[in-house]
Amino acid sequence: MSVDAVPAQKPKNFPLYRTAAGFVRDPLRQLERISSEGDGRLIRIDLGASHPYLVTHPDHIQQVLRRESENFQRDGVFWRPLRELMGDSILSEGAEWEHSKRVLQPVFTTRNVNRLTGLMAGAINNAVAKLDEPARTGQPVDVLAEMGRIVNETVIKVLFGDKISPNDANRLIPTFDQIATLISFRFLLPFVPRAIPMPGDRAFRDAVNVMDEVLFELVERYRDDPGDGSDIFTALCQAPTEHGEPPTNKWIRDNLLAMFATSTETTTLALTWLWPLLHDHPDVQDRLVAEIEEVVGGDPVRPDHLPRLPYVSQVVDELLRLYPVGWMFPRMATRPTSIGGVPIRPGDSVLISPFLTHRLASVWERPLEFDPDRFTPENVREHHRYAYFPFGGGPHQCIGRHVFKVEARMILTSILSRFRPRLSEAVPAMPRIGATLRPREPLEMTLTHAGKGE
Ligand code: HEM
Repeated sequence: MSVDAVPAQKPKNFPLYRTAAGFVRDPLRQLERISSEGDGRLIRIDLGASHPYLVTHPDHIQQVLRRESENFQRDGVFWRPLRELMGDSILSEGAEWEHSKRVLQPVFTTRNVNRLTGLMAGAINNAVAKLDEPARTGQPVDVLAEMGRIVNETVIKVLFGDKISPNDANRLIPTFDQIATLISFRFLLPFVPRAIPMPGDRAFRDAVNVMDEVLFELVERYRDDPGDGSDIFTALCQAPTEHGEPPTNKWIRDNLLAMFATSTETTTLALTWLWPLLHDHPDVQDRLVAEIEEVVGGDPVRPDHLPRLPYVSQVVDELLRLYPVGWMFPRMATRPTSIGGVPIRPGDSVLISPFLTHRLASVWERPLEFDPDRFTPENVREHHRYAYFPFGGGPHQCIGRHVFKVEARMILTSILSRFRPRLSEAVPAMPRIGATLRPREPLEMTLTHAGKGE
């Protein structure tokens, strides 16, 4: 569907008295309501202490993320909790961000990712094989925990050069999970001053201390001898600084944490949302199974299978349309400008959300319907570049997007080539929000071996 530019106009205002109750009951649904009422117009939301703009129109997204990316910076109240946690890492802004990105980018080039896919396939097949036992006994598995296990085993082996031992991982992963959950309080209520204690603040500090113990130990162990792999660890330990001195332990720790956060949580959650969608759309699952049976059969998945699995690719693309797990990334204006004719002043916050744009009826036909055929090569050409942006855009566009696409397709294929998963019950389609999109309730599924019990 083509998207017409919106003529200059005033922002649509949503005063607090109209929205407060909805925000308390269900913030994501309330944002979705506001966004669809605004229908692509710039929206001003009253959050009491602050009035951020909600930007949903693809032209405006392009302006903020790409054309005026220098003006709209990753700064302001929304980024503060992350900045405190991850310092001058690739998730920061300005010269510090640029330096980290220069160091890490070589790990994520198409050439390097292609080199890593064989290793990745091996790690995925091994991790998925551990589902044999629950499939044999009929014991239900926790979907989030199992997707997390498969993703973590893969990412640690492939992207972190197998330098995080199982023992380190057993301490790091639950602590990191706790941090991701606890930081959500601050992320959702960014305007509460630091001086005011909030639930979870103490637990948060304790979790950060445990995580730092593990990360700094790892840095000490490997910094002078990281090996010659093309992984994140090696790239960080061998990074030159501007003045030719070796990188500090703190800088390596900040980037290790940023990369661990971005590479595990997002992929795990995206793959978790896959199963409720397939549960509700058995026709899509049947098509996937037919394609996988024909191309992969009972073999372990290999990189050369992927180009012959176009429907798997479409399903993954459509999954991220409905559940773009990096659902909100704010920016702060540093210079005066205007969006859609509405004046924007320095210091104004602008909220960008692929979750909301992907669900606008003026951007996507039948936006709430799961339909992987939107992503056939012919249909993709019809979309505005910023009608679909699960990985953001412009200079901060996700550097892990190729890794994700390869990893997610292989995990989906490996699971469906061996098993027929069945969810224990239907799942509410609306996620719970924090820094990412999580299911509201724990999700369980039982697995049967492919070819049996169908
Ligand atoms: C479902 C999977 C993923 C989604 C939805 C996702 C989404 C995003 C989004 C929206 C951004 C832009 C943030 C902004 O503009 O402020 C981003 C940035 C980033 N992502 Fe991802 N991501 C995913 C997977 C990954 C993976 C697997 C990795 C690493 C292996 C990764 C590493 C990064 C990094 C380092 C950045 C910051 C880039 C920069 O600022 O230069 N992401 N991601």
